[in-house]
Amino acid sequence: MSLIAAPELRFCDRAAIQPYLQQIDEWLLPGAFYGAQHTWPQLYRSDGDGRFCALFDGERMLSHCAFRIATAHTECGARRVGMLGSVATDPEFRGHGFAQRVVRASLDACRQSGATSALLWAESPNLYTHCGFGPGADETCCVIESSGGALTADVVRLATIRDHAQLCALHEQKPLRLDRSPRAMSALLTTPGLFTYVLERDSDVIAYACTGKGADLHGWWHEFGGPDLDVAALLPRALELAGHSQAIVIVPPYRTTLVPALGSACIEVATVAGPMVAALTDEVAAAVFVDGLDSV
Ligand SMILES: CC(C)(COP(=O)(O)OP(=O)(O)OC[C@H]1O[C@@H](n2cnc3c(N)ncnc32)[C@H](O)[C@@H]1OP(=O)(O)O)[C@@H](O)C(=O)NCCC(=O)NCCS
Repeated sequence: MSLIAAPELRFCDRAAIQPYLQQIDEWLLPGAFYGAQHTWPQLYRSDGDGRFCALFDGERMLSHCAFRIATAHTECGARRVGMLGSVATDPEFRGHGFAQRVVRASLDACRQSGATSALLWAESPNLYTHCGFGPGADETCCVIESSGGALTADVVRLATIRDHAQLCALHEQKPLRLDRSPRAMSALLTTPGLFTYVLERDSDVIAYACTGKGADLHGWWHEFGGPDLDVAALLPRALELAGHSQAIVIVPPYRTTLVPALGSACIEVATVAGPMVAALTDEVAAAVFVDGLDSV
């Protein structure tokens, strides 16, 4: 391993990170069909609002963290939150504290931008515990089976661009969510690898469900809109159309009637670790739930 005397910490915008996207893909998504840009569009697409903190040796990137500031609707009202992700270090330079430096600097930048807490999905918590993150709330998920569903006049079909405004309206009805402009919602709904199904009744779209997202969340149904009963009617039929015989459904905490409404379509319920949370002010971090399309 080469020794780097003093790597330089820099904040980059989307244009400055562009030349390093292939490297970020190799570090984070080796061998994946879709890269970071198609998996986390809010961070990496040119119309996204991602910010990037990295250590460099000259023009060589050694370690990297991406983040964006979002508005979360929580039980305590609206809060600014930092959404961190894409933490990666060049394999040649791992174990030297580089990732900790970019994560800490990103947290400082989030605090300076008014975020009261930061969230991060971690496969292994060690690194982030060192940086001030603690475990977040557990989340419920369930395994469901596909079925033709009850015989009703409701139509289940793939969403089209004409549905985007209604899907945005359904998103805005959720009590816990991250804010999205109609434009951001539309951009998210066109993410490659994402399939969005809608339940249509009397020509109105009343529920939606999403699976897949770039290289992430395949086999997971990670975002829904509409009343629980309608989501429960939609899901088993959407699975069938998607060709999933079974799939995992992430159940938001406020959807207390979804699992009962799924009935025999639900074959198992379990808890999984939610995103880790770092409090950035003295305020106790308010519980946030992040739909799959907003995960980074
Ligand atoms: C995880 C990763 C970013 C660590 O980078 P690094 O510069 O070596 O990290 P640091 O030297 O700052 O910190 C090392 C700490 O990270 C921990 N760590 C190692 N691999 C880890 C992993 N996959 N996830 C989280 N923490 C990890 C180590 O346990 C170590 O903690 P310790 O000192 O208590 O043992 C690097 O291994 C990497 O790029 N992995 C591939 C991409 C990835 O998995 N990113 C994490 C997404 S959640």
